[in-house]
Amino acid sequence: MRPPLAILIALAANPAGWGGGLDSPASAELCGRCHRAIHAAWKTSSHAQAMESSLFQDALDLAEAEFGAGGRKVCLGCHSPIAVQTGDLALIKKVSWEGVTCDYCHSIQDVALGAGNPKAAVKFGNIKSGPLKDAVSGVHGTAFSAVHTSSLVCASCHEYKNAIGFPVLTTYSEWRDSPYGKDGKQCQSCHMYRVAGAVVDPRLQRTQQARINLHQMPGSHSLEQLTSAVKAQLFTAREGGQLKVTVEVANQKAGHFLPTGSPLRQLVLEVRVDSYEGQHFREERIYTRRVADAQGTPLMREHLAFLKGAKVISDTRLSPGEKRPERFWFPVAAGERAQVKATFVYYYSPLAGTESQKRVTFLTLNQFVQ
Ligand code: HEC
Ligand code: HEC
Ligand code: HEC
Ligand code: HEC
Ligand code: HEC
Repeated sequence: MRPPLAILIALAANPAGWGGGLDSPASAELCGRCHRAIHAAWKTSSHAQAMESSLFQDALDLAEAEFGAGGRKVCLGCHSPIAVQTGDLALIKKVSWEGVTCDYCHSIQDVALGAGNPKAAVKFGNIKSGPLKDAVSGVHGTAFSAVHTSSLVCASCHEYKNAIGFPVLTTYSEWRDSPYGKDGKQCQSCHMYRVAGAVVDPRLQRTQQARINLHQMPGSHSLEQLTSAVKAQLFTAREGGQLKVTVEVANQKAGHFLPTGSPLRQLVLEVRVDSYEGQHFREERIYTRRVADAQGTPLMREHLAFLKGAKVISDTRLSPGEKRPERFWFPVAAGERAQVKATFVYYYSPLAGTESQKRVTFLTLNQFVQ
């Protein structure tokens, strides 16, 4: 049905083609020669940037400066899992710079949840594990893997207790305990939903399945995901000589807390009132989980939160499905006209060098009162 020969001929026709046999772990570029659509999507993902991004590089340097080679290795465990698995801690190999790359995820055999951190069993070789039960490839072996269709495959990097035993990342358990987890709605259904696309380049093989799982992994860097996650309504009223502003905020679609993941993430609601008499007021609410070290000192950088985090000082995040009315009062007298504006900003990292690495404004509500 699918003669391996045809595939080899097609590859041979490509001068840059590869000469048979897959050295594993292989670079995503190699996988991308055949899995073009998947590669193009992955390339724009945060997973592909996890190692290369200047933000992570800066944080990694700080981790090494303060905690030595051991600290650095902890970071690479998730940001460049292949470097750690193959002992390439000096990052000599190109594939080590590819962050969370194809051959890591598709060499996962199983993920075990135990008392410690979730642990992935990884075996590099010619067989690639994935969700297809009927895959036939003469190029590399394929194996159906149930774990790839489940949230478990994400758990080893999205759930993490540090050496002190403090849970730094809790996305997996937040999800597990949410209505989504209980209904069996996996991470993939929101972050890797199916889109039109060919599993392999149609020139190599007749596409029997023209749908692929989106490998872009849209999350908090996707405006679409953020605007679908936060639902907000703005109401105003005059009460006791004051202007009362209510913003009803809901975590409508995140399958975990909002924000989730790194303790440095913040969702900020800013309310501004500009009266026509020239008065300006501003108030805000911050949704975040503040983490401190054992002495209670707040930790405001990723490397510190990951390695020294020991307790939660406050947690104002929105739980999955939660609706929270936020009320604000402003001294704007009855009859005085004013413009009311509520803005939602998502902050990524205080260490960010560029504006887009730092934050995004994704939702604005306006109302005129008189
Ligand atoms: C020369 C072409 C070629 C290259 C290079 C290639 N693949 Fe494939 N791959 C295929 C073909 C053909 C299939 C089968 C597709 C089908 O049956 O629809 C496949 C299937 C897969 C599957 C599905 C397995 C399953 O059972 O769900 C995965 C995962 C996969 N490849 C990963 C990779 C990774 C990772 C790399 C790079 C290390 C890679 N491939 C490189 C051609 C290639
Ligand atoms: C973070 C882990 C991860 C990375 C990185 C990753 N994949 Fe996947 N891939 C998955 C998961 C999980 C699925 C199955 C999703 C499902 O069925 O719900 C999948 C599915 C596939 C499939 C089967 C077709 C499909 O879309 O369902 C192929 C082929 C594949 N990936 C190839 C690749 C290639 C090539 C790369 C790199 C360019 C890559 N993957 C990077 C996790 C990953
Ligand atoms: C090998 C570790 C690893 C695995 C496995 C993994 N991730 Fe990630 N993921 C990361 C890292 C590291 C980042 C942060 C990258 C950065 O921004 O530096 C990340 C970022 C993300 C983001 C944020 C995207 C954004 O908009 O910035 C989402 C969403 C995500 N992962 C979902 C998933 C899902 C779903 C799975 C399972 C199918 C998964 N991840 C498996 C390590 C992993
Ligand atoms: C019901 C849909 C849904 C499910 C299920 C879901 N997520 Fe999300 N996730 C979202 C939305 C929407 C966002 C964007 C808003 C935000 O950042 O919280 C998001 C954001 C993220 C982020 C980005 C956080 C940040 O700022 O870096 C990560 C990482 C992530 N999800 C991982 C996961 C993992 C891992 C699972 C499964 C254990 C999962 N998600 C399950 C909808 C979902
Ligand atoms: C258990 C896996 C894991 C470990 C260990 C880990 N990270 Fe991360 N890191 C992530 C994930 C996942 C995200 C992004 C999504 C989120 O917020 O959950 C992230 C995000 C980041 C970000 C923000 C990136 C951005 O694009 O905004 C920085 C910076 C960072 N990590 C630095 C570090 C440093 C430094 C270390 C070592 C001290 C480290 N990480 C250890 C998984 C990990």
